[in-house]
Amino acid sequence: MSLRPTAVTGSFLSVVAFLLTAAPAPAAPADQGAGAGAAAPAAAPSVPAPEAPEAPEAPEAPEAPEAPEAPAAPDAPAAPAAPRPGGVVPVAHRGASAYAPENTLAAADKADELGITWVENDVQRTKDGELIVMHDETLSRTTDVEEVFPDRAPWKVTDFTAAEIDRLDAGSWFDARYAGEGVPTLTEFLDTITANNQKLLLEIKKPELYPGIERDILRELRKEGWLDRRHLRTRLAVQTFDAASLRRVHELKPEVKTGFLGTPKVADLPRYAAFADQVNPRYTTVTAEYVDAVHATRGPSGRPLELFTWTVDDADTAARMAGLGVDGIISNRPDVVRDAARGRS
Ligand code: G3P
Ligand code: CA
Repeated sequence: MSLRPTAVTGSFLSVVAFLLTAAPAPAAPADQGAGAGAAAPAAAPSVPAPEAPEAPEAPEAPEAPEAPEAPAAPDAPAAPAAPRPGGVVPVAHRGASAYAPENTLAAADKADELGITWVENDVQRTKDGELIVMHDETLSRTTDVEEVFPDRAPWKVTDFTAAEIDRLDAGSWFDARYAGEGVPTLTEFLDTITANNQKLLLEIKKPELYPGIERDILRELRKEGWLDRRHLRTRLAVQTFDAASLRRVHELKPEVKTGFLGTPKVADLPRYAAFADQVNPRYTTVTAEYVDAVHATRGPSGRPLELFTWTVDDADTAARMAGLGVDGIISNRPDVVRDAARGRS
């Protein structure tokens, strides 16, 4: 990871942070979805009403004590980000989705085979309230839904029950070898990555379609044992393009690491940092100055914000991003990214 001077940028941002403390909530981004093009914040979302925090957890088994962290002064500039001990973190985008059908258990297993620990997925909710792993708003592109339910156009996730979705083949479209691979529930996905000892970057996809999905997801994570201290500290992050939704997650469970998908203006970073621990921009928008500005801003925990960029699939771009100092790279070919970024961070 490159180290560049950040003191001036940090001081400037501290002043900006101070001036903007009472400013309204940050804008929701307009860069939802994959593809090229610069991202820019769009119109400001309505400020969500404060959420009641989650019910307290059952006590956990005690863990070994940790060295206490010095609390950060609220408006102090962050120190330059230290290089990650393990270098840039490769994240398998929708699983290792260049090699196995996206957002399936097979894609998570493929990432594991490649030695990739972090897996990204997309979570939506069925008509009857089950959380499932699916990227698109409709089931058409990645399943055989049009054959199984020909009269149900436009085949939206929200129009199907979990039992109906369970009948679909989510593997054949990718390769006949994956015929019969299903659309996983979030529970099944968590079970698989738990068995693989993997970590989860969970994207809440289109939360505006699913009122209350943040609470549903946290409930499921808790039920599956993913809100204990070990998972919260090292194995879980929740990201979304929707600033209001991310703020809701943070309010419900501040200990969950949160990532905002997009490229907020540098001047707006302190406001995002009220509820986001990561700022995760499309790679086409990443510059060294932007990485430094993100790292010079402290998140709600008092630690510098992290930056995970997406979606990078080639070695040259991965090496360039590593040279810019990003913390993580989200990729359909996470093995390529890992190998290219090694030695450049
Ligand atoms: O993890 C970032 C990336 O997943 C965001 O875009 O459309 O692939 O969900 P998309
Ligand atoms: Ca995603």
